[in-house]
Amino acid sequence: MITAMLRCQSSAGGHVISYLDTGPTEAARAGTVLFLHAFPLDADMWEPQLAAPAAGWRYVAPDLRGFGGSPGPGGDPGAPPSLDDYVDDVLALVDALRVETPVVAGLSMGGYAALALVRRAPERVRGLVLADTRADADNPAARAGRQRVIEALDHGGVRPVVEGLVPRLLGRSTLAARPEIAAQVLALGARQPIEGVRAAVRRMMGRPDATALLEGISSPVLVIVGEEDGITNPETARTMCGRMPDADMVVIPGAGHLSNLEQPDEFNDQLARFLGRRFGHA
Ligand code: MLT
Repeated sequence: MITAMLRCQSSAGGHVISYLDTGPTEAARAGTVLFLHAFPLDADMWEPQLAAPAAGWRYVAPDLRGFGGSPGPGGDPGAPPSLDDYVDDVLALVDALRVETPVVAGLSMGGYAALALVRRAPERVRGLVLADTRADADNPAARAGRQRVIEALDHGGVRPVVEGLVPRLLGRSTLAARPEIAAQVLALGARQPIEGVRAAVRRMMGRPDATALLEGISSPVLVIVGEEDGITNPETARTMCGRMPDADMVVIPGAGHLSNLEQPDEFNDQLARFLGRRFGHA
Protein backbone atom coordinates (compact mmCIF):
# COMPACT_ATOMS: atom_id res chain seq x y z
CA MET A 1 0.00 0.00 0.00
CA ILE A 2 1.35 3.46 -0.89
CA THR A 3 0.64 6.02 1.83
CA ALA A 4 0.47 9.78 1.33
CA MET A 5 3.16 11.71 3.13
CA LEU A 6 3.01 15.40 3.88
CA ARG A 7 5.83 17.89 4.14
CA CYS A 8 5.19 19.94 7.28
CA GLN A 9 6.91 22.57 9.42
CA SER A 10 7.04 23.06 13.15
CA SER A 11 8.60 25.96 15.02
CA ALA A 12 8.49 24.12 18.32
CA GLY A 13 11.44 24.92 20.56
CA GLY A 14 11.97 28.24 18.79
CA HIS A 15 13.60 26.63 15.75
CA VAL A 16 11.95 25.80 12.43
CA ILE A 17 11.97 22.08 11.69
CA SER A 18 10.79 20.71 8.38
CA TYR A 19 9.60 17.11 8.38
CA LEU A 20 7.80 14.43 6.43
CA ASP A 21 4.83 12.81 8.10
CA THR A 22 2.49 10.02 7.11
CA GLY A 23 -0.04 11.76 9.32
CA PRO A 24 -1.79 11.41 12.62
CA THR A 25 -4.61 9.34 11.20
CA GLU A 26 -6.52 6.86 13.29
CA ALA A 27 -4.41 4.29 11.47
CA ALA A 28 -1.51 5.14 13.80
CA ARG A 29 -2.67 2.78 16.53
CA ALA A 30 0.61 1.02 17.13
CA GLY A 31 2.90 4.03 17.56
CA THR A 32 5.28 6.36 15.76
CA VAL A 33 8.65 5.76 14.18
CA LEU A 34 10.94 8.79 14.01
CA PHE A 35 13.52 8.50 11.22
CA LEU A 36 16.85 10.37 11.46
CA HIS A 37 18.76 10.76 8.21
CA ALA A 38 22.36 10.24 7.13
CA PHE A 39 25.02 12.78 6.16
CA PRO A 40 24.85 14.80 3.92
CA LEU A 41 21.23 14.09 3.00
CA ASP A 42 17.81 15.05 4.35
CA ALA A 43 14.47 13.50 5.25
CA ASP A 44 13.75 12.69 1.61
CA MET A 45 16.14 9.74 1.87
CA TRP A 46 13.37 8.06 3.90
CA GLU A 47 10.74 8.37 1.16
CA PRO A 48 10.75 4.61 0.41
CA GLN A 49 9.94 4.00 4.08
CA LEU A 50 7.30 6.72 4.43
CA ALA A 51 5.62 5.52 1.25
CA ALA A 52 4.96 2.14 2.84
CA PRO A 53 4.69 2.35 6.65
CA ALA A 54 4.09 -0.79 8.67
CA ALA A 55 0.40 -1.32 9.38
CA GLY A 56 -0.77 0.86 12.26
CA TRP A 57 2.39 2.96 12.46
CA ARG A 58 2.91 6.66 11.84
CA TYR A 59 6.24 7.51 10.26
CA VAL A 60 7.84 10.94 10.81
CA ALA A 61 11.16 12.08 9.32
CA PRO A 62 12.65 15.50 10.18
CA ASP A 63 15.31 17.34 8.22
CA LEU A 64 18.05 17.66 10.81
CA ARG A 65 19.12 21.24 11.51
CA GLY A 66 20.87 22.81 8.53
CA PHE A 67 19.58 20.20 6.04
CA GLY A 68 16.60 20.28 3.68
CA GLY A 69 14.01 22.76 4.90
CA SER A 70 15.35 23.09 8.47
CA PRO A 71 17.51 26.20 8.77
CA GLY A 72 20.86 26.01 10.50
CA PRO A 73 23.44 25.79 11.80
CA GLY A 74 21.86 27.44 14.88
CA GLY A 75 22.81 26.28 18.33
CA ASP A 76 24.63 28.31 20.94
CA PRO A 77 26.79 30.80 18.98
CA GLY A 78 29.47 30.57 21.68
CA ALA A 79 29.69 26.76 21.60
CA PRO A 80 30.90 24.35 18.91
CA PRO A 81 28.08 22.60 17.01
CA SER A 82 27.05 19.42 18.77
CA LEU A 83 24.75 16.46 18.14
CA ASP A 84 22.79 17.83 21.09
CA ASP A 85 21.48 20.53 18.73
CA TYR A 86 19.79 17.75 16.73
CA VAL A 87 18.49 16.21 19.96
CA ASP A 88 16.96 19.56 21.01
CA ASP A 89 15.11 19.80 17.70
CA VAL A 90 13.94 16.21 17.69
CA LEU A 91 12.61 16.46 21.25
CA ALA A 92 10.85 19.73 20.42
CA LEU A 93 9.28 18.08 17.37
CA VAL A 94 8.01 14.97 19.15
CA ASP A 95 6.67 17.15 21.96
CA ALA A 96 4.83 19.30 19.43
CA LEU A 97 3.40 16.17 17.77
CA ARG A 98 2.45 14.81 21.24
CA VAL A 99 4.43 11.66 20.64
CA GLU A 100 5.63 10.55 24.05
CA THR A 101 7.86 7.61 23.15
CA PRO A 102 8.68 7.05 19.48
CA VAL A 103 10.69 4.19 18.12
CA VAL A 104 13.77 6.01 16.82
CA ALA A 105 15.40 4.82 13.59
CA GLY A 106 18.72 6.43 12.67
CA LEU A 107 20.96 5.63 9.73
CA SER A 108 24.66 6.44 10.06
CA MET A 109 24.77 10.09 11.26
CA GLY A 110 21.11 9.61 12.17
CA GLY A 111 22.26 6.72 14.36
CA TYR A 112 24.76 8.99 16.11
CA ALA A 113 21.88 11.39 16.76
CA ALA A 114 19.67 8.52 17.98
CA LEU A 115 22.35 7.49 20.47
CA ALA A 116 22.73 11.13 21.58
CA LEU A 117 18.98 11.11 22.21
CA VAL A 118 19.30 7.92 24.26
CA ARG A 119 22.05 9.59 26.31
CA ARG A 120 19.88 12.67 26.99
CA ALA A 121 16.39 11.23 27.33
CA PRO A 122 16.33 7.42 27.41
CA GLU A 123 12.79 7.49 28.79
CA ARG A 124 11.59 9.00 25.48
CA VAL A 125 12.85 6.09 23.37
CA ARG A 126 10.51 3.11 23.06
CA GLY A 127 12.81 1.21 20.75
CA LEU A 128 15.74 1.79 18.43
CA VAL A 129 16.69 0.93 14.90
CA LEU A 130 20.41 1.51 14.35
CA ALA A 131 21.15 1.21 10.65
CA ASP A 132 24.63 1.35 9.11
CA THR A 133 25.98 3.22 12.10
CA ARG A 134 28.45 2.89 14.96
CA ALA A 135 28.68 3.80 18.64
CA ASP A 136 32.34 4.74 18.93
CA ALA A 137 33.74 8.24 18.45
CA ASP A 138 36.00 9.30 15.59
CA ASN A 139 39.62 8.18 15.97
CA PRO A 140 42.42 10.66 15.08
CA ALA A 141 42.53 9.47 11.46
CA ALA A 142 38.77 9.93 11.07
CA ARG A 143 39.01 13.41 12.63
CA ALA A 144 41.78 14.34 10.21
CA GLY A 145 39.56 13.11 7.36
CA ARG A 146 36.72 15.32 8.61
CA GLN A 147 39.08 18.30 8.67
CA ARG A 148 39.90 17.60 5.02
CA VAL A 149 36.18 17.51 4.22
CA ILE A 150 35.75 20.95 5.83
CA GLU A 151 38.66 22.28 3.75
CA ALA A 152 37.18 20.73 0.59
CA LEU A 153 33.80 22.34 1.37
CA ASP A 154 35.42 25.73 1.88
CA HIS A 155 37.42 25.31 -1.30
CA GLY A 156 34.86 23.90 -3.74
CA GLY A 157 31.44 23.83 -2.11
CA VAL A 158 29.11 20.91 -1.41
CA ARG A 159 28.76 19.22 -4.81
CA PRO A 160 32.35 17.97 -5.30
CA VAL A 161 32.36 16.65 -1.73
CA VAL A 162 29.17 14.69 -2.38
CA GLU A 163 30.53 13.44 -5.73
CA GLY A 164 33.49 12.02 -3.83
CA LEU A 165 31.24 10.44 -1.22
CA VAL A 166 28.68 8.69 -3.43
CA PRO A 167 30.94 5.73 -4.37
CA ARG A 168 31.54 5.11 -0.66
CA LEU A 169 27.90 5.49 0.38
CA LEU A 170 26.59 2.90 -2.06
CA GLY A 171 27.39 -0.79 -2.31
CA ARG A 172 29.09 -2.33 -5.32
CA SER A 173 25.84 -3.99 -6.48
CA THR A 174 24.02 -0.65 -6.56
CA LEU A 175 26.93 1.13 -8.21
CA ALA A 176 27.13 -1.53 -10.91
CA ALA A 177 23.45 -1.95 -11.70
CA ARG A 178 21.44 1.08 -10.59
CA PRO A 179 22.93 4.41 -11.67
CA GLU A 180 19.62 6.10 -10.87
CA ILE A 181 20.23 5.55 -7.13
CA ALA A 182 23.67 7.15 -7.40
CA ALA A 183 22.09 10.09 -9.26
CA GLN A 184 19.40 10.41 -6.60
CA VAL A 185 21.93 10.44 -3.74
CA LEU A 186 24.11 12.97 -5.56
CA ALA A 187 21.12 15.26 -6.15
CA LEU A 188 19.99 14.92 -2.52
CA GLY A 189 23.43 15.73 -1.15
CA ALA A 190 24.41 18.44 -3.61
CA ARG A 191 21.35 20.57 -2.79
CA GLN A 192 22.20 20.86 0.93
CA PRO A 193 23.31 24.26 2.25
CA ILE A 194 27.03 24.46 2.93
CA GLU A 195 26.59 25.85 6.47
CA GLY A 196 24.48 22.87 7.50
CA VAL A 197 26.89 20.38 5.94
CA ARG A 198 29.92 22.03 7.56
CA ALA A 199 28.21 22.13 10.96
CA ALA A 200 27.24 18.45 10.61
CA VAL A 201 30.87 17.50 9.98
CA ARG A 202 31.85 19.35 13.15
CA ARG A 203 29.01 17.71 15.08
CA MET A 204 30.13 14.23 14.00
CA MET A 205 33.79 15.03 14.65
CA GLY A 206 33.11 16.09 18.23
CA ARG A 207 30.65 13.36 19.11
CA PRO A 208 31.41 11.45 22.30
CA ASP A 209 31.94 7.70 22.36
CA ALA A 210 28.54 6.09 22.99
CA THR A 211 29.86 2.54 23.50
CA ALA A 212 29.35 2.67 27.27
CA LEU A 213 25.69 3.55 26.73
CA LEU A 214 24.94 0.37 24.82
CA GLU A 215 24.77 -2.08 27.70
CA GLY A 216 22.22 0.16 29.47
CA ILE A 217 19.78 0.25 26.55
CA SER A 218 16.91 -1.85 27.82
CA SER A 219 14.46 -1.12 25.01
CA PRO A 220 14.30 -3.42 21.98
CA VAL A 221 16.84 -2.66 19.26
CA LEU A 222 17.16 -3.70 15.65
CA VAL A 223 20.61 -3.33 14.11
CA ILE A 224 20.52 -3.21 10.31
CA VAL A 225 23.56 -3.22 8.05
CA GLY A 226 24.10 -3.50 4.32
CA GLU A 227 26.22 -6.51 3.46
CA GLU A 228 28.37 -4.28 1.23
CA ASP A 229 28.60 -1.33 3.64
CA GLY A 230 32.24 -0.23 3.52
CA ILE A 231 31.81 2.64 6.01
CA THR A 232 30.22 0.77 8.92
CA ASN A 233 30.69 -2.84 7.94
CA PRO A 234 28.76 -5.89 9.24
CA GLU A 235 31.56 -6.65 11.72
CA THR A 236 31.20 -3.21 13.32
CA ALA A 237 27.43 -3.72 13.45
CA ARG A 238 27.82 -7.17 15.01
CA THR A 239 30.10 -5.84 17.75
CA MET A 240 27.68 -3.01 18.53
CA CYS A 241 24.72 -5.40 18.54
CA GLY A 242 26.48 -7.77 20.94
CA ARG A 243 26.88 -5.01 23.52
CA MET A 244 23.14 -4.37 23.85
CA PRO A 245 21.00 -6.63 26.03
CA ASP A 246 17.98 -6.84 23.74
CA ALA A 247 19.19 -6.35 20.17
CA ASP A 248 18.62 -8.31 16.97
CA MET A 249 20.63 -7.85 13.83
CA VAL A 250 19.91 -8.23 10.14
CA VAL A 251 22.32 -8.01 7.23
CA ILE A 252 20.76 -6.76 3.99
CA PRO A 253 22.21 -8.41 0.88
CA GLY A 254 22.96 -6.23 -2.13
CA ALA A 255 23.08 -3.03 -0.07
CA GLY A 256 25.90 -0.73 0.96
CA HIS A 257 25.81 2.08 3.52
CA LEU A 258 22.44 3.50 2.43
CA SER A 259 20.64 0.22 2.96
CA ASN A 260 17.17 1.81 3.16
CA LEU A 261 17.53 3.36 -0.30
CA GLU A 262 19.42 0.53 -1.94
CA GLN A 263 17.12 -2.30 -0.83
CA PRO A 264 13.96 -0.52 0.34
CA ASP A 265 11.64 -3.54 0.19
CA GLU A 266 13.91 -5.69 2.34
CA PHE A 267 14.56 -2.78 4.72
CA ASN A 268 10.83 -2.10 5.06
CA ASP A 269 10.08 -5.75 5.56
CA GLN A 270 12.69 -6.14 8.31
CA LEU A 271 11.49 -2.97 10.01
CA ALA A 272 7.83 -4.04 9.89
CA ARG A 273 8.71 -7.47 11.30
CA PHE A 274 10.68 -5.89 14.14
CA LEU A 275 7.84 -3.49 14.98
CA GLY A 276 5.26 -6.27 14.92
CA ARG A 277 7.40 -8.71 16.88
CA ARG A 278 8.57 -6.31 19.58
CA PHE A 279 5.67 -3.88 19.97
CA GLY A 280 2.68 -5.87 18.80
CA HIS A 281 0.46 -5.31 15.83
CA ALA A 282 -1.98 -2.46 15.51
C1 MLT B 1 26.62 9.09 7.10
O1 MLT B 1 26.24 8.35 6.19
O2 MLT B 1 25.81 9.70 7.81
C2 MLT B 1 28.10 9.27 7.28
O3 MLT B 1 28.78 8.24 6.63
C3 MLT B 1 28.47 9.31 8.73
C4 MLT B 1 29.92 9.60 8.95
O4 MLT B 1 30.55 10.26 8.12
O5 MLT B 1 30.44 9.18 10.01
